[in-house]
Amino acid sequence: MSTYLTRFTLRQRTEHALVMSLFVVLSLTGLPQKYFDAAWARWMIDALGGIDRIRWFHRAAGLSFTAMTAFHLMYAVGSVATGRSPLSIVPNRKDFTDAIQTLQYYLGRVDAPAQFDRFDYRQKFEYWGLVLGAVVVISTGLILYFPILFTHFFPGELVPAAKVAHSNEGLMAFLVVILWHIYNAHLNPDVFPFDKTIFTGKISLERMHHEHPLELARLKHVQDIEET
Ligand code: HEM
Repeated sequence: MSTYLTRFTLRQRTEHALVMSLFVVLSLTGLPQKYFDAAWARWMIDALGGIDRIRWFHRAAGLSFTAMTAFHLMYAVGSVATGRSPLSIVPNRKDFTDAIQTLQYYLGRVDAPAQFDRFDYRQKFEYWGLVLGAVVVISTGLILYFPILFTHFFPGELVPAAKVAHSNEGLMAFLVVILWHIYNAHLNPDVFPFDKTIFTGKISLERMHHEHPLELARLKHVQDIEET
């Protein structure tokens, strides 16, 4: 029987469930607006109750996503500033050497793959991609939501520019999630058919050995110190 360690807290799991649900609603209600003249988009708009309802849901989900992102960033900054959380998700020099070593390993040029700590370079890349993408969709979404307010302070060209940036960033985020995130969470042979860690919060000791050996060594070291 496997031994399990706690990898994610209840707050982190709740945040993931919320971002996942809101992202589905935002994509389902945003993309048919972008491709409104396509047959599939018209079918979806009718199936979801018409354009007015779709716009209402998109705006409600957009404001919820904005509030959730603000909470996440404030909590993260507060935790780091008060020393309750290490900077484990911030990219560092080792991430670049890890990426090169992993590529060399896949090409058969080195014998061992890179060893990772709490987050590997792909996880960090995905996290910061989401944060930066969220900043773009939120800021441009608020301009589309309150165009009169923003054009009191900025030139009118801001609104069509925000629309182009919002709709293309939204499409890119959708494609990244479909192609990259689904591969990492489901199709990757290490976790196929489904990585449950972000829902249960638990990870097996075998996976820690394989995927996060440096973090495991650190945890064991702390335990040894506490036991002595
Ligand atoms: C990942 C998240 C999101 C995706 C995938 C997304 C996608 C889209 C897309 C594709 C459109 C259509 C743009 C066009 O006509 O070309 C749109 C419109 C819009 N979005 Fe988003 N969006 C997201 C987040 C947000 C957020 C966070 C907000 C609010 C803060 C927001 C507010 C709006 C507004 C106000 C419109 C204009 C439609 C209307 O007037 O009702 N969106 N979105």
